[in-house]
Amino acid sequence: MHGTVSVSGAKNAAVAIIPAALLSDGVCVIDNIPQIEDVKVLAETLTSLGAQVDLSVPGQITIDPTKVQCVCPSEALTRKMRASYYLMGALLGRFRHAVVPPPGGCYIGKRPIDQHLKGFSALGATIKQTNVVEIDAPSLTGAEVYLDVVSVGATINIMLAAVKAEGTTMIFNCAKEPHVIDVANFLNNMGARIKGAGTDVIKIQGVKRLRSCNYTLIPDQIETGTWMIIAAATRSDILIRNCIPTHMESLSAKLAEAGFRVEEGEDTLRILPRTARPRAVRVKTMVYPGFPTDLQQPFSALLSVAEGTSVISETIFEQRFRHLDELQKMGGKSEVTDRTAVIQGVEKLYGPDVEALDLRGGAALIVAGLIAEGTTVVSGVHYIDRGYERIVEKLQALGADIQRVKA
Ligand code: UD1
Repeated sequence: MHGTVSVSGAKNAAVAIIPAALLSDGVCVIDNIPQIEDVKVLAETLTSLGAQVDLSVPGQITIDPTKVQCVCPSEALTRKMRASYYLMGALLGRFRHAVVPPPGGCYIGKRPIDQHLKGFSALGATIKQTNVVEIDAPSLTGAEVYLDVVSVGATINIMLAAVKAEGTTMIFNCAKEPHVIDVANFLNNMGARIKGAGTDVIKIQGVKRLRSCNYTLIPDQIETGTWMIIAAATRSDILIRNCIPTHMESLSAKLAEAGFRVEEGEDTLRILPRTARPRAVRVKTMVYPGFPTDLQQPFSALLSVAEGTSVISETIFEQRFRHLDELQKMGGKSEVTDRTAVIQGVEKLYGPDVEALDLRGGAALIVAGLIAEGTTVVSGVHYIDRGYERIVEKLQALGADIQRVKA
């Protein structure tokens, strides 16, 4: 394959910023919105609560939340995605009351939300958990919250609840992922007073009102990484445009260790094609700026054809190796013990029918399918559509032989 591919807006920023717009007293126009399933579901959810949402301009969402009155999204919608938990923080921040059914999302192990709830409690909310999470706070007061685990979701959710609280909130041991900063920038654009996003400590000075705003999302770190892995695995000269190379340093470093040269431009990346097989490496997933757990799965497809034995330690989620069973059907050799996968590189993968069991595991199967001999049929593509915009079309434009077919 060869050519140029443009990275879409960040999924994990979009899925937090869309609920965050509920906090505004006016209309929010957000650009660089990826056209993915999770965005469509959130748009539908906000509409069901009474917001006016317009997705008719590609890459843009307009949200007028002023007429929202309902604080109870339906379980049919919240179950479709993980990020529906942001409705808790956003509705609590605006109405001091939220009744939100549990979130769904990919099964990659236990995904508790105790840290989110601990933050809401610290701000003065009482929480009742039945088959829904009911959160009530006659008033919200700034507080100090120390997160026991570094959680992207909890960091953002507590920010959402705290921006309109009385007084100052300090969140310690925060997640530092690029999308945490993007959400803080969006809220600050609306008039919030958040400092320190991107560091371990976030300080939020509560404000009374948040106004309308225009905002443009950052590019998706995980999509960028997926293209880098695809370029490396298929030995293709692909220019990856509209990305932020500094967000990719952990992956760039691992690719360099595996023998690839990574060329960084201002907002472009290129992996120089390597004729030899990749070298085996050890990978440990970590919170940002460490190696992202979301890239561990696509990266394992590259390591399946590496020269030698690679080891992946997954420190964030305990069930994130299910895709390796599918890779084994393609000739991959791996063994999983607890949270460690040992991958014995093989010369070739072969293309039978495989099934995507989650979003990033699905991306791994696409990487594998591109390098496998013969035709690979990947089912379960609805998972992949949740997070990758027009992935089939983007691959076709680069020269890949890939088609979406009806089962
Ligand atoms: C988010 C991302 C997901 C990514 C993950 C880690 C979204 C919508 N999803 O998921 O793509 O893989 O960050 O970068 O942005 N934890 C607790 N209690 C909590 C919250 C989390 O124990 O209250 C644990 C989790 O089980 C996990 C770790 O903390 O072991 C990190 O989770 P977290 O960062 O919260 O991940 P998600 O928000 O689920």
